[in-house]
Amino acid sequence: MAKIAILGYGTVGSGVYEIFQDSDFSKKIGESVEVSKILDIREFPSHPNPGLFTKDFNDILNDAEISVVCETMGGLHPAYEFTKALLEAGKSVTTSNKELVATYGTELLEIAAAEGVRYMFEASVGGGIPIIRPLASCLLANNIERIAGILNGTTNFILSEMINNNREFDDALADAQARGYAERNPAADIEGHDACRKIAILASMAWGDFVDYNNIPTEGICDISLTDVRYAEKFGAAIKLIGYAEKQDDKSVYACVAPMAVECNNPLAGVTDVFNAIMVRGNYLGDAMFYGRGAGKLATASAVSADVLDIVRMKSLKKPMRWETGATKMLEPGKKKWAYIVRTKAGQKEIDSEFNPVKTVTGVVESETGFITEPMCEDEFLEKIARVGAVKYIRMLEN
Ligand code: HSE
Repeated sequence: MAKIAILGYGTVGSGVYEIFQDSDFSKKIGESVEVSKILDIREFPSHPNPGLFTKDFNDILNDAEISVVCETMGGLHPAYEFTKALLEAGKSVTTSNKELVATYGTELLEIAAAEGVRYMFEASVGGGIPIIRPLASCLLANNIERIAGILNGTTNFILSEMINNNREFDDALADAQARGYAERNPAADIEGHDACRKIAILASMAWGDFVDYNNIPTEGICDISLTDVRYAEKFGAAIKLIGYAEKQDDKSVYACVAPMAVECNNPLAGVTDVFNAIMVRGNYLGDAMFYGRGAGKLATASAVSADVLDIVRMKSLKKPMRWETGATKMLEPGKKKWAYIVRTKAGQKEIDSEFNPVKTVTGVVESETGFITEPMCEDEFLEKIARVGAVKYIRMLEN
């Protein structure tokens, strides 16, 4: 019997407890798993098993019988200090905490490797969707060329409401908050920071060197209007908040988070509501899309629990998944080529003096033209568009 503990009895932590109460995994992994302690500073008087709760972290740290701990507290502190102490004490840790993994993952993975234990974080990206383990094992034979993902459910819900139900941004955001999708501080979702941490984790996993989220240019969806949505539609595209990472020929990595126009024949365009999807391009496999619930109690808890089961089943691993300490060489954002959808009040002559539009539309807004540029480096685009003048522009995700 493997004994485990849970740090933080919130949405995900209580989901993990429920899963291990409901299911006997002994047939699947050759051993049963029991939650023997839960850390939370709150009281849960009506819980069926109040004796499990402690407010003292040392009760878990010093319990020699506990071999795996699920960190579902969220936030950086004290989650970082607790995780570090647990790993140093020879306990494996599984987590859904993307902020912690993106910030301290390098150090925590190193400590885990040195101690011969594991630090696993399947639930940190895409909630219940398997994506970390596929990158670490199923896709190992491929060189990953690029990753493009809808990594935040809240913003996908907001954009879907704008696209399908003609709602303004503020109205759709209020609904997302009322439904409990948005983070406590919605800025993390709508300004793209949550997706930024997630794409940093995926890029670090895909290419084996740490990608610092501080080096990833990040734009959110606060400026996206219903008019932008309608322009994208005219061009056969849907606006999605995309976490994007790509390996360059010179081995540098380009990454960004930005709202992008995704052409309707790209499966990412059909991902609506709170769903997440991650499209991974491998040199042998081509594109594979991982789709499902990127948030939610039991969906996310199922990924935390699967990490626990994996640890119990495979007690010794010679080379656990990890990335190296050395920071990744990043491509300067201005050097990345994109095609853009541009909205402008400039006349056709001014447009043609700088661009060779691939497609043009008029009539969406009076005295405005929309056009798609040829692909060009961001630096070059910014110079040209400064001369022409734009109401708005948005990158197009290349299929
Ligand atoms: N606020 C996040 C989202 C939760 O909307 O995707 C999961 O990380």
